[in-house]
Amino acid sequence: MFIDTHCHINDERLYENRAEIIRAAREKGVCKMIVIGWDLASSRIAVEIANEFDGVYAAVGFHPENLDEISDESLVEIETLCSNKNVIAIGEIGLDYHWFKEQDHRNKQKEWFIKQIKLANKLNLPVSIHAREASEDTFTILKEHPVIKGCVLHCYSGSLEMAKRFSELNVYFGFDGPITFKNAQNPRNCVSYIPNNRLLSETDCPYMTPVPYRGKDNKPEYIPLIVAKMAELKGLSIEMMEKQIEENCLKLYGI
Ligand code: NI
Repeated sequence: MFIDTHCHINDERLYENRAEIIRAAREKGVCKMIVIGWDLASSRIAVEIANEFDGVYAAVGFHPENLDEISDESLVEIETLCSNKNVIAIGEIGLDYHWFKEQDHRNKQKEWFIKQIKLANKLNLPVSIHAREASEDTFTILKEHPVIKGCVLHCYSGSLEMAKRFSELNVYFGFDGPITFKNAQNPRNCVSYIPNNRLLSETDCPYMTPVPYRGKDNKPEYIPLIVAKMAELKGLSIEMMEKQIEENCLKLYGI
């Protein structure tokens, strides 16, 4: 069985066709999907989709690019969503320094990243982390505020050197379409280095579409392409890679 540990079927590009998208994924053997929120509205939709379909789960939280509406009150609403049995993580939360160069915004990102880690620890939930061009500060925050239930650096795009340092913190690493891109040697080097028991497969759909579907919307049904590339890099059969990811997902997310 394949697992998409990070997808956005709650995105308006996919939401309307969600039943068809989930059916097509299952046909390809992708039987578990985690729909990830990026603000309050998208988190609510993630929970709705998880309630609607078997094998579909939700993560809720505020992405660093979507902090306009964040407040202590909205975080209480995120906490309320977590009482739903299909909510299995806080995410995606973290730091994005690619789009935000101003120190004020970066400080705000750090503040709410830490607050959401504390919420995850209070609720005993794991965390899905978005870290873009912010490896050093992400590392510092995770060292000072460890996530008790564990966390994944989703769509890992940091350096191999940073992957080695993050490994000491026992984090998981999620990989997506980029490992199939011709010019993206860095994430492939990271997959090769990272221990098998720390790897997760994800699409981040509708973004990050793997080869040969680049240019189209990404979907969970493309997970087998990503797992096949990971298996190749690890010298494992696809079945073994699949089984390993299933074990890793069970350990981190309990599903
Ligand atoms: Ni995402």
